[in-house]
Amino acid sequence: MKTLTKLIMPLALSLLTTADLGAQELIANVYGRETQSLNGKWDAIVDLYDQGRKNKIYLNRKPEGKTDFYEYSFENGLRLDVPSDWNSQMPELKYYEGTVWYARRFDAPKQEGQRQFLHFGAVSYRCRVYLNGEEIGSHEGGFTPFQIEVTGKVKPSGNFLAVEVNNTRTPDAIPAMAFDWWNYGGITRDVSLVSVPDAFIEDYFIRLGKDSADRIDADIRLSGATPGTAVEIEIPELKVRKTAVTDERGTATMSFNVKKLDRWSPAAPKLYRVIVSTDRDRVEESIGFRNIRVEGEEIVLNGAPLFLKSISFHEEIPQRMGRAHSEADAVMLLSEAKALGCNMIRLAHYPQNEHIVRLAEKMGFLLWEEIPIWQGIDFANDRTREKAGRMIKEMVMRDKNRCALTFWGVANETQPSEARNAFLRYLISCCRSIDDTRLIVAAFDLVRFDRERQLFVMNDPFIEELDVVAINKYMGWYHPWPLTPDKAVWDVARGKPLIISEFGGEALYGQHGPADVASSWSEEYQAALYADNLRMFENIPNLRGVSPWILFDFRSPFRFHPTNQDGWNRKGLVSDQGYRKKAWYLMKEYYDKH
Ligand code: GCU
Repeated sequence: MKTLTKLIMPLALSLLTTADLGAQELIANVYGRETQSLNGKWDAIVDLYDQGRKNKIYLNRKPEGKTDFYEYSFENGLRLDVPSDWNSQMPELKYYEGTVWYARRFDAPKQEGQRQFLHFGAVSYRCRVYLNGEEIGSHEGGFTPFQIEVTGKVKPSGNFLAVEVNNTRTPDAIPAMAFDWWNYGGITRDVSLVSVPDAFIEDYFIRLGKDSADRIDADIRLSGATPGTAVEIEIPELKVRKTAVTDERGTATMSFNVKKLDRWSPAAPKLYRVIVSTDRDRVEESIGFRNIRVEGEEIVLNGAPLFLKSISFHEEIPQRMGRAHSEADAVMLLSEAKALGCNMIRLAHYPQNEHIVRLAEKMGFLLWEEIPIWQGIDFANDRTREKAGRMIKEMVMRDKNRCALTFWGVANETQPSEARNAFLRYLISCCRSIDDTRLIVAAFDLVRFDRERQLFVMNDPFIEELDVVAINKYMGWYHPWPLTPDKAVWDVARGKPLIISEFGGEALYGQHGPADVASSWSEEYQAALYADNLRMFENIPNLRGVSPWILFDFRSPFRFHPTNQDGWNRKGLVSDQGYRKKAWYLMKEYYDKH
């Protein structure tokens, strides 16, 4: 493995230039700007041995003289959909890990006084971007957006854009070498050319004051504007029109009280039309306002204690065996969660596309979002920590105006160590440096049964640094019951709210068998397991939410059983073909009662 890692590391890392973008500024609300979509069929070249960059194929050269020839051409070859993973687009790429080059031409009619940015919703997992033969940027991280300014670099017509994408797993990556979901590669989310005025509204954060039911706080940042520029916020329905001027850093802050505010909640997901404008720019979007806080062992939303009826799903459309990326995909995933009776989604295990986040907010789901700090991460590696910090900042920057976002998740099933603690403290500081209004959570799999005390307990002092503690516990699947569920009492993280962030077991839809034999992989076994866990949950005094693992069966390269799994993790309440298993109905009944 060492040799292999030694080989893989330089190749994959060589994809990132020193120009690798830091936790860069992101234009807020790209979908609310003037954009030209670059989605569609792109030309592609599968570069199995990473020969493309050294042969400068991004120059897209054509033979001129009689002795010229090039052993590549982007035209008349493979074509791949963007956005989409490559794995689901052709059988030969189902398991592919390596480099694929994408390329397309586009026109960018000159607009005086405008600045242009190429914006990528996400590229999995790392990439280098070349425009008209020049390398203009790179990015690492398969689940967060990035942008590259191309003002003055784009021509009115015939621009040639090439993107070198690589999804090779490496020990210093996030996630690292092994994770329980499919390693989809590609330009997996929307790509657009964003045009903004040369003095534009780059970013804003508009929210209800953390401890106020009627004070709105706003931070706005302009780019390219002179200090002292007037910025206005308008919320017509609240009869609000407030102005402030920018300081020497281009930022303006406001706080103002409002009357008759309808605070957002799952039961009433009220959003307001908010307009931010200056003399040169204007942008608007729908923003909700709510209060979320912890009071002792309670999670309190708008002053009332809350019980989280949650579910997880991966960013995957099982029927298509591909990564979800569109609004239609978001409708499919979220409609099934709504049918189950949920009021929250744990977006596992990485920031999912903005269509899902925005639609979830409109539909009234609270959201937990996390970066894939999944089990074995190289916590002692400074570069890995820098990357993780950049990723979590990109996540928070993108979604900070989404009031549905309630929890920032900083880890999933990590083992206690000083290196891990320092790493997670850094991530928490990165979140709070942008947003100190939301709750910080992490999921642990460290609860064990103490035979002497006959209690379920946990010992990881790091939980003191979290607002809410989440536990993944697979009683009846990975862990046989040490006593009957009605006697399974927990003494975990008292004084803090506790969420069961994962529980469940596998069943192959339509497979029936004894409810007490795990290897039956039967719907009956899964349903009995759910009934047992729901019974145990009654004995967790500080339980404030549950989130079964998982809504849909999902693809995973280490689910080897040829008939029960066949490369699928079968813990879904719904099969990969969309059929609800028996356990789905138990969960529905439980949520309807809570
Ligand atoms: C873990 C992990 C999940 C995984 C699940 C399982 O708890 O967080 O990502 O899929 O267990 O084993 O099915």
